[in-house]
Amino acid sequence: MSLRAWKLNDLDEIVSIEAECFSDPWTRRMLADSFLSDRFVGVLLEEDGNVTAYGGMSITLDEAEIELVAVSEMYRRCGRGTQIMEELLRIAKKRKVKKVFLEVRVSNSPAQILYLKSGFRGLHCRTRYYPDGEDAVVMVKELG
Ligand SMILES: CC(C)(COP(=O)(O)OP(=O)(O)OC[C@H]1O[C@@H](n2cnc3c(N)ncnc32)[C@H](O)[C@@H]1OP(=O)(O)O)[C@@H](O)C(=O)NCCC(=O)NCCS
Repeated sequence: MSLRAWKLNDLDEIVSIEAECFSDPWTRRMLADSFLSDRFVGVLLEEDGNVTAYGGMSITLDEAEIELVAVSEMYRRCGRGTQIMEELLRIAKKRKVKKVFLEVRVSNSPAQILYLKSGFRGLHCRTRYYPDGEDAVVMVKELG
């Protein structure tokens, strides 16, 4: 298993996991554009030549926003989501980030539990945040 930064030729696999996981997935163009930004950090887990999990965040000065976390369906509940979160938080800390934010659908209990276990706490709710009208919970973690 290797935990490493995204490369351009990982995009096909990431696009396909995005489609499997989300009703409003990041498009290939959005994912490809992330390579144009110095602020974006993308990490993934590769196992036997396949991408099984990934995460992405944007860092602006001393704040970061985790924008993507996903684990391919058949690989869930084995700690991969936790590993991705730990890696993003490690990188954020190294870059002297003080606060990390994220948004999660109110209905997405698996992700909310993962984030709570990763040290995030709920901050407030954003009404009708998602394109289908679902609310988001905004969560934050302060880094020491
Ligand atoms: C959310 C997600 C990333 C979790 O990935 P994962 O690899 O299964 O997470 P982990 O195995 O590290 O789980 C860590 C803890 O989170 C909780 N958890 C994860 N999935 C859960 C589920 N389906 N039901 C209840 N608790 C869950 C558990 O407490 C788990 O610890 P445990 O297995 O020791 O009980 C994965 O379910 C996923 O990709 N979902 C679809 C995409 C998504 O919703 N991404 C988040 C968008 S904000």
